[in-house]
Amino acid sequence: NVLILDFGSQYTQLIARRVRELNIFCEIFPFDKIPTDLSSYKAVILGGSPASVRSEEVLHPDLSEIRGKKPLLAVCYGAQYLAHFSGGEVAASNTREYGRANLSFIKDNEIFLEGVSENSQVWMSHSDSIKQLPTNGVRIASTKDVENAAYKIDGETTYAIQFHPEVYHSTDGKQMLENFLVKIAKVEQTFTPNAFVEEVIAEMKAKIGNDKVVLGLSGGVDSTVAAVILNKAIGSNLYCIFVNNGLLRKNEFQSVLDQYKGMGLNVKGVDASQRFYDALAGLDDPEAKRKAIGNAFIEVFDAEANLLTDVKFLGQGTIYPDVIESVSATGGPSATIKSHHNVGGLPDFMKLQIVEPLRMLFKDEVRRVGATLGIDPELLGRHPFPGPGLAIRILGDITPEKVAILQEVDAVFINGLKAHGLYDKVWQAGAILLPVNSVGVMGDERTYEKVVALRAVESTDGMTADWVHLPYEFLQKVSNDIINHVRGVNRVVYDISSKPPATIEWE
Ligand code: XMP
Repeated sequence: NVLILDFGSQYTQLIARRVRELNIFCEIFPFDKIPTDLSSYKAVILGGSPASVRSEEVLHPDLSEIRGKKPLLAVCYGAQYLAHFSGGEVAASNTREYGRANLSFIKDNEIFLEGVSENSQVWMSHSDSIKQLPTNGVRIASTKDVENAAYKIDGETTYAIQFHPEVYHSTDGKQMLENFLVKIAKVEQTFTPNAFVEEVIAEMKAKIGNDKVVLGLSGGVDSTVAAVILNKAIGSNLYCIFVNNGLLRKNEFQSVLDQYKGMGLNVKGVDASQRFYDALAGLDDPEAKRKAIGNAFIEVFDAEANLLTDVKFLGQGTIYPDVIESVSATGGPSATIKSHHNVGGLPDFMKLQIVEPLRMLFKDEVRRVGATLGIDPELLGRHPFPGPGLAIRILGDITPEKVAILQEVDAVFINGLKAHGLYDKVWQAGAILLPVNSVGVMGDERTYEKVVALRAVESTDGMTADWVHLPYEFLQKVSNDIINHVRGVNRVVYDISSKPPATIEWE
């Protein structure tokens, strides 16, 4: 197990992912919440930070239980931190050093740099420079502009690098992480999907015993994988509830429900569409719609859960990025841009203890675990779909008629992507029903009908996204198919905005 200390860099999660790619388990903690028991950690990594060691509010954790006692790798801010507080000198760079650089000096016979090619490209992002190494520091690599690009401390297993090994632009970054973790710190590479599954099933068995768990399935990857794991751990004591909020994709409720049953899950489908439509009637503000849907979901789910007796646990498909976000010192959105109703969890009155089998996994790891569990690859490869469903893709108020139109449009688009082999190249796609009519002509008739927008984005986590350059021929065909087959739509537009400044959903 490896400990990563977060000083607020946007790249810290990326360090964790690279470490996990080496089949090594790691956990991120904020720099000011270091675990008191460090015995299970074989190595420690200090991450980067937007802060400066020269500023007044310097982030200054006590590393006395770590430094010199465990193998330590300090990245960027971490490297400056070690220099600044241990006899070296850090000063503002003459120019902000940002972007690609190449190693111009690599110390011979240095395990940390084994396999790193001469001139290897590294990625810099800092405005302070290490002018003088700390006590016992030995320079091990330089670039043209950054003399102290990497150093180690004589007599310790402490290494420090100014550049970011975790980003792909640092060509040999992963090799350096491997050298540090495997060759220097001798951490074992045993964190595989199979090992995770075995371990988490045992853990769930021990925690839950013979008690009952209720879990809400959404049709998405996370809740499905969580359910399959719990099902393997406790069998028929897992009660799944799949609610149709009337805002799902076309035919999705029935087909996903059938799929769940085929997987041997003990699942109850609850069609509460009308209840959601009633709750949404007349609402056109996006946040008001989200809240109405969130509340209706809680009521329906709670009523269903109350039909079960002696349930002690609530299963959830929470994944690691949500966990980091909620404990992070610097993370956490300062302003609510959109209230993701399903992130806040369910209210206290349910009085259930929470079990979250996936809380240590990143999204791609959830998919790999799902694959080892034998879950249908098609289900695992599904695009993310928001909890409030089509309600936030119908701008303005919601009616069952509008939902039916959008379901048809969406189905033509998504099936088209699949038929043209484009579905897996897109991170998320969907259609948006705009609250405007436009004039068209069909045959000899003038029409005055709805406009729909299509959206397809590339992303890794939804935080940033770029629109996908779908082939014109494809867009042309989909546009024709939509206008010819979906009554009430006479115009199709394609959204070419990236996030930021636009968001992925229109509401
Ligand atoms: P935005 O629109 O914020 O979306 O760029 C980023 C990702 O989050 C999804 N999203 C939601 N998911 N409840 C959810 O479960 C919500 O209220 C919600 N709003 C947006 C969106 O589909 C995209 O994947």
